[in-house]
Amino acid sequence: MQFAYSPESHPSIACDLLAYPVFDDDVSKPSPADPATPSSAPLKALDAATGHAVSALLASTEFKPELHRCCKLHRPAQLQAERLLLVGAGKRSEFTPARLREVAGVAVRAARASHCKKIALVCRDAFPARLAAQMAVEGSLYANYDADLYKTKDREGGDVTDCQLLFEGEASGKADGGEVAEGVRRGVAVGEATNFARTLVNEPANVLTPAQFVQRALDECAKAGLEAQVMEREGMEALGMNALLAVSRGSDQPPKLLLLRTPGAVGENAGVPLTALVGKGVTFDSGGISLKPSDKMEEMKGDMAGGAAVLGAMLALGRLCPQKPLLGLVPLTENLPGGKATKPGDVVKSLSGKTIEIINTDAEGRLILADALAYARTLGATRILDAATLTGACVVALGTVNAGMLGTDQATIDRLRANCAATGEKFWQLPIDDEYKKAIRSEIADMKNVGGRAGGTITAAKFLQEFVEDTPWVHLDIAGMDIDTEGRPFACKGATGFGVRTFVQLLEG
Ligand code: BES
Ligand code: MN
Ligand code: ZN
Repeated sequence: MQFAYSPESHPSIACDLLAYPVFDDDVSKPSPADPATPSSAPLKALDAATGHAVSALLASTEFKPELHRCCKLHRPAQLQAERLLLVGAGKRSEFTPARLREVAGVAVRAARASHCKKIALVCRDAFPARLAAQMAVEGSLYANYDADLYKTKDREGGDVTDCQLLFEGEASGKADGGEVAEGVRRGVAVGEATNFARTLVNEPANVLTPAQFVQRALDECAKAGLEAQVMEREGMEALGMNALLAVSRGSDQPPKLLLLRTPGAVGENAGVPLTALVGKGVTFDSGGISLKPSDKMEEMKGDMAGGAAVLGAMLALGRLCPQKPLLGLVPLTENLPGGKATKPGDVVKSLSGKTIEIINTDAEGRLILADALAYARTLGATRILDAATLTGACVVALGTVNAGMLGTDQATIDRLRANCAATGEKFWQLPIDDEYKKAIRSEIADMKNVGGRAGGTITAAKFLQEFVEDTPWVHLDIAGMDIDTEGRPFACKGATGFGVRTFVQLLEG
């Protein structure tokens, strides 16, 4: 999709569909006697330009300015646009950048449904032009994506090809091509990286093996100017990454460890703060010998969503702030119950030297992260963030509205929490008191890999903490956030790309 700044105002813009967000305070409060009417100057102007079709829609109650609600009008009187789409933007006082992203997404989904190719989107004056443009672009790209990768017919198709960004009121005075172009550039970097991460999650596990994940990463890294290296099984054996190797033993697909660096992190960097992003990359999690039930097991193709988020974020950050020193690590493997598979009760010595009794082979994410986190430390990371679809317990605790957030770097946790209104990706902090550590005590080794049913998300984090040691660290448990099985008004069902925006927002600039 191409984006362009338009200095025109909406009556004169020619397009297949013009999308206009409507806030609660653009319309009068309806009562049984008086229907809602346009009450703000901009909506009154739009009403006049449509021969009062907007008034008629409001009177009919077919349209209300509720968030995500929308209504289409054909051939509005004095507009050049073929269609006018009113999009509910909700309460103006509750409008956030995340909501602007969603409003743009609703517009694009509606345009696709009507096979509109060229659209125009009015950015009302809620945010500075650059931020508004970035959100509009991110939301548009997100909505223009479909998960029908392997449909040979009945494809939704209907991609929107052009989107003009218009600015109204205050925003139009301040908007200039340069500010908007910068917002578009950022929005494209983040939006495309998010969709790339979504495709990795949507791909079935027979296609997206560890080797295929790495291949696609290498192709994209070359384009984004990121340095990428791949460690093979032999390298892991030489270093002693036996926790990662233990998970891969039951599969015929060789494990991989993907290591990414921004240009700013290449070469000697002693003394410079270095943030490492680590993402769980289990391309399919059957549970291994501790086999999962078959119901919903297909969703475990998304068990590399943390790795996809790390890769997507690194690609965007490589474009937006290449000089910032950042590492990305993605340990990649399948978790299958083959003849050589790790068995409950097996003990391994991890890269860190700490020994692990593997009680449950389905708690594999923490095993591969153990070695990747320890390795990040050896590479000089001074702060570590990890993202992983780690525990079903997190879905039980927080559902699919908030992801879990735990760790030792409270300053970063606070920033992540504060960024939620901009990213639209919500996190809720859970505690990690040391008392939880006794749950993973083992009789035979330094620790065991499961801590029982109580506090499952926390005991998993306590396990990870053993491998980050004193490095400031934040763990994001994104289980249940990777795949949206219900669908949203601004997106197709399927992979969400959850985590990309969070990492970019935290680390850019
Ligand atoms: N990948 C799963 C966690 C998961 C569950 C993600 C549901 C998304 C949706 C992870 O590897 C796992 O199997 N965790 C176990 C841990 C248990 C054995 C301690 C779990 O949550 O059941
Ligand atoms: Mn598992
Ligand atoms: Zn898993």
